[in-house]
Amino acid sequence: MTQTATDSQQPRTYPPPAELAAGAVATAALYEEAAADRLAFWGRQASELLTWDVQPTQVLDWSDAPFAKWFADGELNAAANCVDRHVAAGNGDRVALHWVGEPGDTLTVTYADLHEQVQRAANALSDLGVRTGDRVAIYLPMVPEAVVAMLACARLGAPHSVVFSGFSAQALRDRVDDAQAVAVITADGGYRRGEPAPLKPAVDAALEPRDGAESTVRAVLVVRRTGGEVAWTEGRDHWWHEALESSSPVHEPVSVGAEHPLFVLYTSGSTGKPKGILHTTGGYLTQAAYTHRNVFDLHPETDVYWCGADIGWVTGHTYIVYGPLLNGTTSVMYEGTPNTPTQDRWWQVVETYGVTKLYTAPTTIRTFMKWGEELVSGHDLSTLQVLGSVGEPINPEAWTWYRRVIGGDRTPVVDTWWQTETGGIMISALPGVTSLKPGSAQVPLPGISVEVVDDEGRVLPAGHEGAGYLVLTEPWPGMLRGIWGDDERFRDTYWSRFAKEGWYFAGDGARRDADGDVWLLGRVDDVMNVSGHRISTTEVESALVSHPSVAEAAVVGASDPTTGQGIVAFVILRESAHDTDPAAVGKELRDHVAKEISPIAKPRQVLVVSELPKTRSGKIMRRLLRDVAEDRQVGDVTTLADSSVMASIQAGMQSGK
Ligand code: WT7
Repeated sequence: MTQTATDSQQPRTYPPPAELAAGAVATAALYEEAAADRLAFWGRQASELLTWDVQPTQVLDWSDAPFAKWFADGELNAAANCVDRHVAAGNGDRVALHWVGEPGDTLTVTYADLHEQVQRAANALSDLGVRTGDRVAIYLPMVPEAVVAMLACARLGAPHSVVFSGFSAQALRDRVDDAQAVAVITADGGYRRGEPAPLKPAVDAALEPRDGAESTVRAVLVVRRTGGEVAWTEGRDHWWHEALESSSPVHEPVSVGAEHPLFVLYTSGSTGKPKGILHTTGGYLTQAAYTHRNVFDLHPETDVYWCGADIGWVTGHTYIVYGPLLNGTTSVMYEGTPNTPTQDRWWQVVETYGVTKLYTAPTTIRTFMKWGEELVSGHDLSTLQVLGSVGEPINPEAWTWYRRVIGGDRTPVVDTWWQTETGGIMISALPGVTSLKPGSAQVPLPGISVEVVDDEGRVLPAGHEGAGYLVLTEPWPGMLRGIWGDDERFRDTYWSRFAKEGWYFAGDGARRDADGDVWLLGRVDDVMNVSGHRISTTEVESALVSHPSVAEAAVVGASDPTTGQGIVAFVILRESAHDTDPAAVGKELRDHVAKEISPIAKPRQVLVVSELPKTRSGKIMRRLLRDVAEDRQVGDVTTLADSSVMASIQAGMQSGK
């Protein structure tokens, strides 16, 4: 854990620009209203931001805690809220997506276009046997069809499970099997760093029978993106464009109860098995619309909003798809990497479309810093009004660079803390209200209750210098409703640490400064944060030991100037591999992890060691390995079963340098 600033440094603060404050959708009154009656406040948000088929009369039912029910007697459809109602209100011609493909192709999708596509896709899925309640896996690159696919599922009340298209066949298979998906929506491939990259082969591999059991998937819809060759399973595989063309453009949305599952999204926990985070309809959508509108000061008639995430992560779900579309926003959606074909691609896009609100991750900002301001200065970015950051703590240097170089020294930068589990933003400044403090996520949004507490659950006094744990002390509408198929793990992971108090344990360290502002200090569990992606140490360790050369492995996240953390693996080789060249082993193991999980989980460094530091009970002491990986003096070794182990690891490191 690193502390980003201390109170004594008195960081400069940035008050809201007067013009923005004057026209802001959120004012200080929002805090007062929520503080006066939190549940009434959420009830108002739900009824004003969403269109219900049956208006809810209840707000929260917490009688079966930690299983929450929000707006339980209300009924609605998510896709109708994102699309149909805007068309019905006469905004069909408004652009929903300015889509930019990596090779330079573009597409403008209006709300009317989206309406037709989503209805056709819903009919196509329904013709393939997808029913309300069935799970559908989506494994697509950043193409407009990804948005259409998610909304088509939502229209049917068939929860989607989006799997990041950078994940391997093995990772896809684990997720498809866990959710027991009945269909997969994929593409022949996508563009990544200027090259077409195939996707369909991973789906084919993921759906092979496992241990003699057939996959639950009966249908595969394939979007044609790259035009590459694909293997075809007759009867199971169908081209997306053919299925949509032959389907009716009219589809009646399925009205579901507010607590009907909207999606399952897998994320890493502190064990090797990913958790299927379950989100339901009414509460999640309320929080998505509310946070997107207020945090980005969203004016749908004039804004052009761009979130640079991927739909494979929760940021893409809430801030590319649901939040923006619920609010009738015009968004930019970009397919590729920021340096293809040139390192100023993003700034060309901002200039071309006149982007007003931009949301990205600190790792991306630090990458741009590395590439240099010259790439930015040639572009007119004067349309930008609010910049957002998410995924990990943003260091004050990156914050001030983002504001100065991208935001022309004018724009507020909001640092937004949240998680896959929270569904939407929880801690963030409001750009028209809050004076900003670089490096701090600052204050819970109106309606959200957080505390920083010590080991015993005592609330730490403001200004307290030591680190504590971040807890959420009241339920919130977008909260996860469980882990798919594993109620026990749900209770264990989030609700057992402070069970007595009934608080949600976020897994993040935090402190509060003298002003009461919250500073996030990183994860307190065995979860790493690499470029804003959550990866568990155990997951990477399991991938490493699945390689025939590896006997044992321990993985740590070491701080990295660009990616936040970088993965460092310590491996013990099997006898049979002892003579192989360590450099070759390193490369082979890095590639192996990429294949088993994803390139995002590739270790930055693989160190071959002869022993690992363990306690007498056999637990690997990652803390000590982190000291080595971060080139620090190794901490207290007295609890090690064999205290000479660290000396030998360090000697090995030195000689390998
Ligand atoms: C974890 C959640 C939220 C969408 C992207 C990541 C870290 C996230 C911040 C922030 C400090 C942050 C936390 C959190 N995190 N945003 N603004 N400041 N840390 O979602 O994969 O579920 O990861 O990301 O450690 O627990 P996720």
